[in-house]
Amino acid sequence: MLSWHLPPLMLCLILLLSLGPHVIHAGCREEHRDSCEAICPPNSLHNCTIRAAVILPASPIYEMSLQKILPALELAEQQIKKQQILPKNVKFEWMAYDDKCDASYAAVSAMDAYGKDCAHVIFGPACDYALATVGRIIKYFRSEGTPLITVGGFTFDFQKPKTTCLDEFYMLLRVGMLSFRDIGMFSLAVMKKFNWNHALYFYERNGYYSVAGLHTCHLAMNTLAEFYRDANITYSSFVTDSGNGNLTEDMIREIGVSHGEKLAAAAMG
Ligand SMILES: *[C@@H]1O[C@H](CO)[C@@H](O)[C@H](O)[C@H]1NC(C)=O
Ligand SMILES: *[C@@H]1O[C@H](CO)[C@@H](O)[C@H](O)[C@H]1NC(C)=O
Ligand SMILES: *[C@@H]1O[C@H](CO)[C@@H](O)[C@H](O)[C@H]1NC(C)=O
Repeated sequence: MLSWHLPPLMLCLILLLSLGPHVIHAGCREEHRDSCEAICPPNSLHNCTIRAAVILPASPIYEMSLQKILPALELAEQQIKKQQILPKNVKFEWMAYDDKCDASYAAVSAMDAYGKDCAHVIFGPACDYALATVGRIIKYFRSEGTPLITVGGFTFDFQKPKTTCLDEFYMLLRVGMLSFRDIGMFSLAVMKKFNWNHALYFYERNGYYSVAGLHTCHLAMNTLAEFYRDANITYSSFVTDSGNGNLTEDMIREIGVSHGEKLAAAAMG
């Protein structure tokens, strides 16, 4: 799925780089320009290298793991070279970091990418909690901030405006197709179409763990809840992890008894 987005994703990167420091000043704190920030060696246009940190989990259980993404990034590099989007004298150096889909490992990986390896750009993380931690600090990396490009970031917070230093996730670029907000808008449209105004969520807190890590379904639920509140749709939720393991029984109890009662009471009252 991800490899589809890569060529446009590279375009974004090239666009960012070619804008250069003359057009935008992105730095959110005073910091001296480090000599390692240069892409080409001094007084030379040969052997120019873009150091790109790739921060993703190494375990193949994740949809966006290092094993799956690194080869795709390398293919994308070949492709943009072939199309002469990337000049011949510039190459990428891919530096992989395993964030274990965990917020603290991701933060340490980002610090290494910044301090030890002087990355020009960061790809990933894709797990929401890991992305939140790294996404908040990249604007302070280097004199111009360090762009972070990800196909993750599904939760509501990542969709807020990111155009100034005051914005929480400034310098973060979401290039993925999907977000929980879109799922929310879709489900709201269905609710409105049928004039439904009460919803009961059944969800597994860590469902779809392989997509965005810890609490993926819980975060999706929170985003949906935000939409429903705004639209005056009442909702309740049932975490299936807390049930007795028999979904049929849970549904009969929750829909038929608990919420059925409320509806009946509302109808009578
Ligand atoms: C290019 O850079 C690499 C890594 O910094 C170095 O090993 C290599 O010798 C350089 N090549 C030339 C032609 O300068
Ligand atoms: C939701 O309810 C509030 C208070 O009753 C009302 O002011 C608001 O317009 C309603 N919003 C929608 C989207 O119906
Ligand atoms: C789940 O509950 C239903 C209804 O009580 C019952 O018919 C079914 O056998 C149960 N399933 C399992 C796997 O226990």
